[in-house]
Amino acid sequence: MSFVKVKGTYDVLPEESFKWQALEAHVKALYQRFGYQEIRTPIMEYASVFHRDSEQSDMVTKETYNFKDKSNRLLTLRPEGTAGIIRSYVENKLYTKQEVTKLYYLGPNFRYERPQKMRYRQFMQLGVEAIGDSSPTLDAEVVTLAYETIRSLDLKNVKVCINSLGDEQSRTQYLSALKNYLTPFKEHLSIDSQHRFDKNPLRILDSKAPEDQVLLKNAPIPLDYLTPDAQAHFQAVLSLLDASDVIYELSPRLVRGLDYYAHTVFEIQADVEGFGSHNALGGGGRYQHLVHELGGPQLGGIGFAFGMERLLHALVVSNPDFLTPKAMDAFMISFDDMTQEKAFSLMQNLRRQGFSVDMTFPLKSFKAQLKQALKHAARALIILGEEELSQGQVTIKNTQTEKQVKVPFEKLSSTLKEILNHV
Ligand code: HAM
Repeated sequence: MSFVKVKGTYDVLPEESFKWQALEAHVKALYQRFGYQEIRTPIMEYASVFHRDSEQSDMVTKETYNFKDKSNRLLTLRPEGTAGIIRSYVENKLYTKQEVTKLYYLGPNFRYERPQKMRYRQFMQLGVEAIGDSSPTLDAEVVTLAYETIRSLDLKNVKVCINSLGDEQSRTQYLSALKNYLTPFKEHLSIDSQHRFDKNPLRILDSKAPEDQVLLKNAPIPLDYLTPDAQAHFQAVLSLLDASDVIYELSPRLVRGLDYYAHTVFEIQADVEGFGSHNALGGGGRYQHLVHELGGPQLGGIGFAFGMERLLHALVVSNPDFLTPKAMDAFMISFDDMTQEKAFSLMQNLRRQGFSVDMTFPLKSFKAQLKQALKHAARALIILGEEELSQGQVTIKNTQTEKQVKVPFEKLSSTLKEILNHV
């Protein structure tokens, strides 16, 4: 029997978890500023939510964790957030509200993929869905938010790539042009792309295989097959992005891994060390039929999701200062059972008043206590020796300035507040 973590999963240990918290707090505040509210949906759904006839992507057909519960219901661990959120949007009739529903979410997803660097079987996504409108303004709003996510985190070498797949008519026209172009070369395509040829030819377009890359150089692109309406939609999106100084790159070969997309699709790509071929920090796009397919009215929506492990890695590389742990306000230093007992009660009192304070458990040598205070980057030491105890006083030492003052117990919290510049 072995007690190790499941292949493709990882633990977030205490020395890493503060980084996750810092990133989460930052993006939550940003998304709320844009008018998005959090939605939390279950990590398991009935299989039919993801396994829809229209969704033939490898991700859903081959990589999902499916199982039967004890009542023989077929369930799927969510491989992505969107379908479950649309299920909830429909089930809770959120579409009856007058305004567009703007949601953000954060949570684990599961895909049975080959684990690699930056590719896991359980991974965290952070995303948004704006549902209930098909105007280009909403596309621009969502792409802008993806851009603001990377801009506000000051990520280096990260860009937003954008493309349009157009409406259904554009897509049908394009797929037939692509197939016509590729038919004479079919045998020369990579094995994967040969499989995709009949099932999902669009995915051939973003194949990384060198033999496909050569053949794709002169292949037709979706932008050339957009209907006038689809073209106008995309032009409007780009103008709105330009007017808001959103920096993006047109990527005519960008297609996405899921089948529900139409019109605007985009990806946030990183040229950052440590990513290898998995350089997509996030991706998203517009979906026009998902709400209807899941039992709701004919309403469109658009969203994106970031892979949080990748986003965090890009942040560590480009902007490590963002992730410095928060210093502790104070650390108690005592010397024996008597002084420790008093230090313990003073500490609880300070905590009740909102200070972050800690001490060693059990009582350790003076040197070991200092070492631990340093590890917590404590801004003050509260020292309680035999002499202080007999006088009803403590010594507070500012660890930055090295200045120290002796104050009666009653003045501990007000003096500490002054020292820390608490308002
Ligand atoms: P997706 O491109 O499949 O889109 O996933 C979004 C992001 O999740 C990827 O760009 C990547 O950063 C991360 N990701 C995906 N798989 C893994 C994995 N195995 N390990 C680590 N990170 C991974 C979606 O899921 C859509 N639901 C996005 C969306 C929202 N479209 C519209 N609304």
